[in-house]
Amino acid sequence: MEKLVSYWYDVRPVPEDYIFPPETRPGSLHVPIGEVIPVIDLSEAEHGDRTPTIRKILQAAQEFGFFQVKNHGVSENLMTEAMGVFKEIFQRSNLAKQKLDSQDVSKRCRLKTCTINCTADKVHLWRDFLMHPCHPLEQWQHTWPQNPTRYQECVGACSVEVKKLASRILALISEGLGLKCGYFDDELLSGSMMLSVNHFPPCPQPSLTLGSSKHADTNLITILLQDDVYGLQVLKEDKWIGVEPNPHAFIVNMGCLLQVISNNKLKSAEHRVVTNPSTARTSAAFFVIALEDSIIEPAKDLTDELHPPIYKPFKTKDFVTQFLANDGDSQAALRSVLA
Ligand code: OGA
Ligand code: NI
Repeated sequence: MEKLVSYWYDVRPVPEDYIFPPETRPGSLHVPIGEVIPVIDLSEAEHGDRTPTIRKILQAAQEFGFFQVKNHGVSENLMTEAMGVFKEIFQRSNLAKQKLDSQDVSKRCRLKTCTINCTADKVHLWRDFLMHPCHPLEQWQHTWPQNPTRYQECVGACSVEVKKLASRILALISEGLGLKCGYFDDELLSGSMMLSVNHFPPCPQPSLTLGSSKHADTNLITILLQDDVYGLQVLKEDKWIGVEPNPHAFIVNMGCLLQVISNNKLKSAEHRVVTNPSTARTSAAFFVIALEDSIIEPAKDLTDELHPPIYKPFKTKDFVTQFLANDGDSQAALRSVLA
């Protein structure tokens, strides 16, 4: 069992099994000012013409695979309070954390540090995370941490709002793609949600380590809340773009399944998290997921003789198996389902 990074992070030099090979280390943390991830105001679509908002969303999803949303309808108070309890989880004593740090893999709510399992991870990430399902709420809320005492109530309220936001964004995307109204309302497709609360402790040698290595999300769409500490970078045309922290905005990124359904019209961009020497960073990723037996394939409305399907139909669980078999390489998993 690997020890949580937050138990010992203040060591120099950093342990060897946390040092990435030169070609994948972040090196200089300075990302030149260049392109920025678009920030889209969702209030415009609420009052009046939805077309400009849909156009902006589609363009960002095609070009970057990422965008941020503001005026999204989730109250700032709730976001601040949720970020507060997320941070508290990791500020608790080591003993309190140990209770959540279970080795019982059948438990759906766990605090851990290794992504797959510690022996399979080639290099360890500078990150601890708490992962649990968060939709449907009635099914899971009681399995979440009981301390901080506000966790279940506050994260429950936040999950409900984020799920609504995700549905709104998926509806705008389906309209933009020209899919039938309610395409993503299908419970099999987007009926479930997982929450990963990520904690990246300060790292004495940030140029050698990563909080999260280059990956694309394997789910449908991800809604991410980050605090005011920089760390997230998005890959576009072989260049890393930093995502400006904006604690009142949500970051939205397309997962591999949305890339498949859109027949490559939308891009599931690779991204990573860099660490820094002075300040811990916290983020909460709400993964909208398809159920494991749902069949994923390019939407019929988007394919014809001139635009043949780029991917063959597959079950979500088989895609995840491919992803794991390829050591978390999402591009390899996508290649495995090419038509
Ligand atoms: C993830 C992820 C980014 C972040 O959990 O898949 O990419 O900023 N997180 O924590
Ligand atoms: Ni991710």
